[in-house]
Amino acid sequence: MAPSPKLIDKLERRLPPDALAIFTATRAAAGAEGLRAYLVGGAVRDLLLESPSLDIDIVVEGDAIAVARIAAQVAGARLAKTTAFGTATVRAGDAVIDIATARAEVYAHPGALPRVTPSTIDDDLLRRDFTINAMALQLTEPAPGKLLDPTGGEADLRAKLVRVLHDRSFQDDATRILRAVRCEARFGFRLEERTLDLLARDVVHLDTISGTRIRQELARTFAEPSPEQAVARLRELAVFEAIHPSLSPGFDQASAFARLRDTAAPAVSAWPLLCWNVPEAQMGDLARRLALTRPQRTAVEAVPAARRAGQQLAGDVRPSEATRLLDELPLPTVHALAAGTRAAGALAYLAVWRTLRPSLHGDALLEMGVQPGPEVGRVLARLRAAKLDGEVKSRADEERLVEQFLARERIGLA
Ligand code: CTP
Repeated sequence: MAPSPKLIDKLERRLPPDALAIFTATRAAAGAEGLRAYLVGGAVRDLLLESPSLDIDIVVEGDAIAVARIAAQVAGARLAKTTAFGTATVRAGDAVIDIATARAEVYAHPGALPRVTPSTIDDDLLRRDFTINAMALQLTEPAPGKLLDPTGGEADLRAKLVRVLHDRSFQDDATRILRAVRCEARFGFRLEERTLDLLARDVVHLDTISGTRIRQELARTFAEPSPEQAVARLRELAVFEAIHPSLSPGFDQASAFARLRDTAAPAVSAWPLLCWNVPEAQMGDLARRLALTRPQRTAVEAVPAARRAGQQLAGDVRPSEATRLLDELPLPTVHALAAGTRAAGALAYLAVWRTLRPSLHGDALLEMGVQPGPEVGRVLARLRAAKLDGEVKSRADEERLVEQFLARERIGLA
C-alpha cells in the first residue's frame, strides 16, 4: 500500500491534547535519532476500522527508552516506567503512551514466557497474535504514513476474520484463545476456519497459563460492551472446562452477563455469575485456579448461600424475609443472583429494599423511652421489617408500633 499520511492526520485529529503532545514528541525524537518509529497493534486496527482506540502503542527500531526519555521531556510528560525489555511508558494527565523497542520472541515451550531479543519491525509484527493486530503505520522518514501489513491484516479486517499467524500460536500463548474470542465478539468478526481448528486442538494448553493471566483476560472480556456474546462463544468452544472442569456456565448465564452490564453492577459481580453452577465442594479449588483477588473470592464463596437464597426467593417470601436473606450476602453476589435468576425479590432488594430504613432514628426511639443499648437496634430492625412488609407507612404508624412495643415490654411481653 502506498504511504498515506492521511492515516497519521486522522490519528492526530482523534488524540486528546496530552496524548498528541507525547505522540508528536516521540515521532520527532525518533526522527532526530535517525530511528524508525511505528504505530502498532490495536491502534492501527482501530484506525482502519474507524473505531475509537484508547491505547497508543509505538514501536521503535532501536533504543525506545532513549526516545521515550527525550519525548517525555519535550512534551512536558513523565517517563512513568521502563523495563529490561526496552519498553517505556510515558504519561501526561490521563494520556498514556507505550513505546517499545522492536523485538523478536521465541517460546521455549507452551506457556513459557518468551525469550525476547531486540529486532526489526517485521519480526515484531510476526510475533503477534492475529493478522488484524499485526500491522504497523510508519511514523517517521523515509515513508511516514506507510502501512506495513506482512500477514494480510487489512484483507482480514475487510473479511471480518480473526486469524492467527502460524499453527503454533495458541500453543505459544494460550491466552490468545481468550483474546481471539474477545476480538470476535467486540468487532462482530468470526474465527477463520483454520484458526478455529487450531483453537479446538490447542484449548488444552490453557492449563499452561497462570491463574492471574487467565483472570486478567477474563476480566477484560467481562468488561467488553457485549460480554454475553463472548461468554456464549467461550462456552461453545469448551474453553471454560479447559480452564477448570467445574466451570461450565449455562446458556442463560451468557445473557445474564448483559443484564449485569445494563444494571451497572460492580465489576466483581461477573465472578459469582461465572461460578453460579459450580458445586460447593469445588469452589475453593476454582478460586485458586483463577487466582481470584480477595473481593472476587468473597463474592464467589457466597455463591452456594446465594443459590439457596435464590431457591427461597422463588417461593412466597415476605420482603422483610427476603431482605434478611440477602443482607447476609456480599452485594456483588446479590447482583449476580438478580442477573442470573431475575428473582423478583432480588431485583426489588437491589432497587428499593436494601436501602429502605424506618423514618424514626435511634434518638427518636430513646426520646420515646426505648432503653439505650441493643434494644434500639432490635426496635429499628423491627420497624424496618414492618416498613418493608407494608405494615407501617408513615412516621405516625411507626410511632404507634414503638408505643405498642413499649406497652408490651411494660407488661413483660416484648
Ligand atoms: N499481543 C500478542 N499476544 C498476546 C498479547 C498481545 O500478540 N498474548 C499483541 C497484539 O498484537 C496486541 C498488542 O500485543 O495488539 C498489544 O496488546 P494489548 O494491549 O493487550 O492489545 P490491544 O490490541 O492494544 O488491545 P485490545 O485488543 O484490547 O484493543
